[in-house]
Amino acid sequence: MSLPRGHVLFTTAILAAALAAVAAGILTWVIHGRRPAEPDLPQDYRHLVNPLPQDGVTRNNGMRIVLNKGCAACHGAHADGRGPAAKKLTPAPADFATGTVLQEHSDAWLFWRISEGKHGTAMPRWDGVLTEKERWEVISFLRSLQE
Ligand code: HEC
Repeated sequence: MSLPRGHVLFTTAILAAALAAVAAGILTWVIHGRRPAEPDLPQDYRHLVNPLPQDGVTRNNGMRIVLNKGCAACHGAHADGRGPAAKKLTPAPADFATGTVLQEHSDAWLFWRISEGKHGTAMPRWDGVLTEKERWEVISFLRSLQE
């Protein structure tokens, strides 16, 4: 079967355009689907270790802070990221109950993020709100969720 030359060229152009559109779609999906790379932990925080005894008192204090000082509004009363304010947030608040954020990060990293917030998300900074001891108590509580 022989088609007029113009027709073949036209069909080829349409196919090429369709392919380009699919490729652009895939690229957009890859770029936007991925989170931006996390910056390195600032020098000031690298050496930090949780100074508190890892016992029930510390964890209980941490739990009370999460429930009463505002974390639960976003992260939820069960720390699963499903607080009442979470629905409208992108990215959604971290899910400490089933998510991987605790496995992926050191205590020093968590302390940095709780202290200074997470840029580009709704996660606020808490260094003016919670004392250092309170921030470590929260981290002890979050770690207890992993056990
Ligand atoms: C206004 C909503 C909001 C409040 C209040 C809030 N968070 Fe967050 N939090 C977020 C969001 C959104 C993220 C980002 C999740 C992501 O990047 O996937 C986040 C992330 C985190 C992370 C993970 C940081 C990382 O490196 O990915 C920790 C830890 C955390 N929050 C702890 C807390 C603690 C502790 C409190 C209370 C003292 C709190 N958050 C209060 C919204 C909130």
